[in-house]
Amino acid sequence: MSKNPYQDDHGNKDASITNPQGRAEFQPAPGTGAAAHTGDAFLIGDSMTGGYGKTGPDILHDCTIAVNKGEIAVIVGPNGAGKSTAMKATFGMLNLRKGSVRLDGEDITGLSPQDRVIKGMGFVPQTHNIFTSMTVEENLEMGAFIRRDDYKGTMAQVYDLFPILKEKRRQPAGELSGGQRQQVAVGRALMTRPKVLLLDEPTAGVSPIVMDELFDRIIEVARTGISILMVEQNARQALEIADKGYVLVQGANAHTGTGKDLLADPEVRRSFLGG
Ligand SMILES: Nc1ncnc2c1ncn2[C@@H]1O[C@H](COP(=O)(O)OP(=O)(O)OP(=O)(O)O)[C@@H](O)[C@H]1O
Ligand SMILES: [Mg+2]
Repeated sequence: MSKNPYQDDHGNKDASITNPQGRAEFQPAPGTGAAAHTGDAFLIGDSMTGGYGKTGPDILHDCTIAVNKGEIAVIVGPNGAGKSTAMKATFGMLNLRKGSVRLDGEDITGLSPQDRVIKGMGFVPQTHNIFTSMTVEENLEMGAFIRRDDYKGTMAQVYDLFPILKEKRRQPAGELSGGQRQQVAVGRALMTRPKVLLLDEPTAGVSPIVMDELFDRIIEVARTGISILMVEQNARQALEIADKGYVLVQGANAHTGTGKDLLADPEVRRSFLGG
């Protein structure tokens, strides 16, 4: 058996494992709106303002999202709130009118998405995140496009993390189930050995059991030191595994806190978690 850094402790559902020391720096008061204490985060989209194209209206308004090293940050909010837009802005797919993006202390606001991949960012978009006519293995190979070195070891790690993908490696990815396709998409992003992974609704359209399974795998990835910034429709379950949570409304920060804080906040519960 190959040694798998993503799989040291299989299937642990304890939310506290993502923040074993209960780190003190991430304790802003719940419901404070503006995202505080992000200055030293590993990845920060800081006070981002902008929209699509050159003349489109602003979708993001002074929006800040961030994630610390090896932690999980979750973005939730209503449909059309700008969650995907915030992810795209962080990945360099939007021209910001104001604000900046910093990775490990470096200002990367001017970099193209491809250059951000080289810097250590991996992005799994909400839709069209796999090549359906290519096999599972070809999808993973495409993921390694920027690498000049031997990526077989990384592929073995992805197969250890998602064993079903190894079984189905010769099948067209389009033939897989929804949950398996999401595994292909995450696996593809892992092929560049990212330091931070941006996941836009990784559990969209899957059953609750598959969702739990995917969250477990995401926790495993975070425990190897990879930061996870993810948008989630399953707000309650996602906040349970989140070190940090952001509620976005109309392109702006509405609530920011630890996942625990947000789950306990009466206003967040009433407005966004169904009571
Ligand atoms: N490519 C685009 N061009 C122009 N406007 C866009 C584009 N993509 C999204 N928008 C607009 O930006 C706003 C925010 O959309 P976005 O997709 O970021 O929301 P979201 O929070 O991710 O929603 P959902 O929960 O449905 O995924 C919406 O008003 C949407 O119509
Ligand atoms: Mg979206």
